[in-house]
Amino acid sequence: MSLKKSPIIIAGALLFGATAPAFAEVDPQIAEGYKLYKRERCETCHGQTGEGSAAFPNLLNSLKKLSKEDFANVVLNGRNAMPANKANPKIANGIDALYAYVKGRSDGTVPAGELK
Ligand code: HEC
Repeated sequence: MSLKKSPIIIAGALLFGATAPAFAEVDPQIAEGYKLYKRERCETCHGQTGEGSAAFPNLLNSLKKLSKEDFANVVLNGRNAMPANKANPKIANGIDALYAYVKGRSDGTVPAGELK
């Protein structure tokens, strides 16, 4: 096997680069929610783009059912192993942005993949 980079990998990287949405292409509120989702560590439990795991709910499915009120309630007040965040001003003030971002992922209006 040659150690040279495979043209297939390079083509894949180019394709991914072309399809992953750029910050400039998404609604500013969604971009803000994305940053909060990463910086406030939602992703450590719910996964990089909200897909969850055995122990943590898949937010892409949850947001098909949860209202915005239900979302804010569980995120701010916590529930079982979900921590309360109401004492964190970044989350308390950014709850609309967080909702817009996760809802966008759930609806597919924010395509999978990292924003760049
Ligand atoms: C320490 C791990 C952890 C972190 C960090 C965390 N969550 Fe959760 N989350 C959970 C668990 C566990 C549940 C399921 C709670 C239950 O069983 O009632 C949950 C539930 C939820 C639900 C409700 C899902 C449903 O179907 O009812 C939402 C919405 C949610 N989390 C959003 C967030 C957001 C947004 C953040 C970041 C601000 C976050 N979570 C951070 C562990 C976490």
